[in-house]
Amino acid sequence: MSPVAVSFFGGSSGLWRVEAMNTIVGEALPQVARLDVREGSLSALEPAGCRFALRGSTGHLRYVLAHEKGGLAAVTPPLGRDTATCAALIPIRKSAAWWELAQDERRVILQERSKHISLGLGYLPAVARRLYHCRELGEPFDFVTWFEHAPEDSERFDELVYALRASEEWQYVEREVDIRLMR
Ligand code: HEM
Repeated sequence: MSPVAVSFFGGSSGLWRVEAMNTIVGEALPQVARLDVREGSLSALEPAGCRFALRGSTGHLRYVLAHEKGGLAAVTPPLGRDTATCAALIPIRKSAAWWELAQDERRVILQERSKHISLGLGYLPAVARRLYHCRELGEPFDFVTWFEHAPEDSERFDELVYALRASEEWQYVEREVDIRLMR
C-alpha cells in the first residue's frame, strides 16, 4: 500500500465532535470542539478556527514479523464502517531513550515484553486502526494513532488503552494526549 498522508485539524469545524480530551503525559493540546480529518495530503492550509494541526503519513511495518502479519491482515477491518461512530485520536511521542535503542531491542520491548501486537489483536475486528508516522516530518509527536469502533465497544477499547499504558513500552512515552470523538 502506498503511503497515505493525513492532516488532523482541531478547532470548530469537521465531521468529528470532541467528547473528551485528556492529557496523559507531557504538554497538553488546546481544548477544541471538533476535529477535521483531511486525508490525502499534508495540507498546509489550516481551516478557520484551527487551534492545533497534526500531520502524519502511514509507513512500512517496523516490528511485525511475517507470521504476525497474516494474522493481523485476516482480522483487520477497514476504516469508515457505518457502525463505527466513535473514534480516538491519540498522538504520542517517545523519549530519546527509546530512539537510542536498536531495532531488535525495541521489538523485544514492544512485543516480547509488552505484548502490544498480540494484545491489540484481541480487539480486532471491533476496532479499526491506522498508525501515522510523523517523527520524520519534524512534528511535535512521533506518531498519530487513529481508532474507530462502535459505541458498544467503548469500554473494551478503554481496557486495551489502560493495558498498553501499564506496559513497559509506555515507560518510553513522554507525551500523549487522548482525544475521544463521535460523529
Ligand atoms: C486496536 C488494537 C491494536 C493493534 C492490533 C495494534 C497493533 C500495532 C502494531 C502491529 C504495531 C507495529 C507496527 C509496526 O510494525 O511498525 C503498532 C504500533 C503502534 N501502536 Fe498499536 N495496536 C493497537 C492499539 C493501539 C493503541 C490503543 C495505541 C495507543 C494508545 C497504539 C499505539 C501504537 C503506537 C504509538 C505504535 C508505534 C510504536 C513504535 O513504532 O514505536 N496501538 N500497533
